[in-house]
Amino acid sequence: MSEIDQKNLFNFSRLGYAIIESNRLDEWIAFGRDAIGMHAEYLSRDALSFRMDSHTRRILIQKGKLEDFSALGFQLIGEEYLDKILEILKKRKVEIRKGTEAEAVLRGVKSFWGFSGPKGLRIEIFTDPILTDTPLSMLSKGFVTGQFGMGHVAMVSKRPEKTIEFWKEIFGARISDSIRQKLSGMTVDITFLRMNPRHHSVAVASTTGLHLDPLPTRVQHLNIEVKNLEDMTEAYLRCRKLGFEIAHGIGQHPNDLELSFYAITPSGFELEVGWNPIPVSETDWKEMKYKQISSWGHQPEISTVLPRVNEFRRGIASLFRSEYIPF
Ligand SMILES: [Fe+2]
Repeated sequence: MSEIDQKNLFNFSRLGYAIIESNRLDEWIAFGRDAIGMHAEYLSRDALSFRMDSHTRRILIQKGKLEDFSALGFQLIGEEYLDKILEILKKRKVEIRKGTEAEAVLRGVKSFWGFSGPKGLRIEIFTDPILTDTPLSMLSKGFVTGQFGMGHVAMVSKRPEKTIEFWKEIFGARISDSIRQKLSGMTVDITFLRMNPRHHSVAVASTTGLHLDPLPTRVQHLNIEVKNLEDMTEAYLRCRKLGFEIAHGIGQHPNDLELSFYAITPSGFELEVGWNPIPVSETDWKEMKYKQISSWGHQPEISTVLPRVNEFRRGIASLFRSEYIPF
């Protein structure tokens, strides 16, 4: 692909939806609706949906034992761009499958294509979400979506260069900045990738030296952005009141300046609820390297001894496991 083509891919995609497989639907509805403050509805005994805006789906929880993300959906602006991505995937010999009508309805989109992305996580692409004018019934006053998409995800990778290349090549992602920090005795590098004015839609984290992956889930955290500061602080207080664990209390990141906290979801990965990250202006953005993940706050609020022991064990085990990347 020529350099011009790759440049043209930028600013045509945004995070559209997330699909999670979990057997803990009742805990998920309490977490997403009563603690985080999203609009929730059961679609059947085996499927739970959260709305944040006019999209009929933003987060879909399907009954199953994975307790992890099963797919991430990216909204593309225009059929032309969809065709371009499908062409790149075909050239790269990545197996792609068009979703059935029933699968599209479940995701709240008119149609979609799917393929296996980094770590075997299903990546789905679509152009037309199904919108609804049914009023939102939720505790939060609102979420920032639109051209920024529904938020961002962070993944840990043992093959960070390849994973970053994947997001760059398929979605025209650009590096916003990076952070290197010592965490739990390891040095961690995090690269922040943007696909649109949101500072990052994807962050890729890796350990320096031996690349370990101590996490049981393919996505470390999903971030959603609230419109008002009190939507974030009240969600934090509701999580505490309802007994949902807080991985990291309120704090601020030095790069996108977002104020946020991290709650532990019923599936075990984290949900970051953030407020007021700065958007990237393509004309005067400077790529920086930071030395700490948080300028202040984000203190752990759970006992970290057992999770650390388990993370260490999983980190060692991950050395003997290969990590899938489509090309
Ligand atoms: Fe984040």
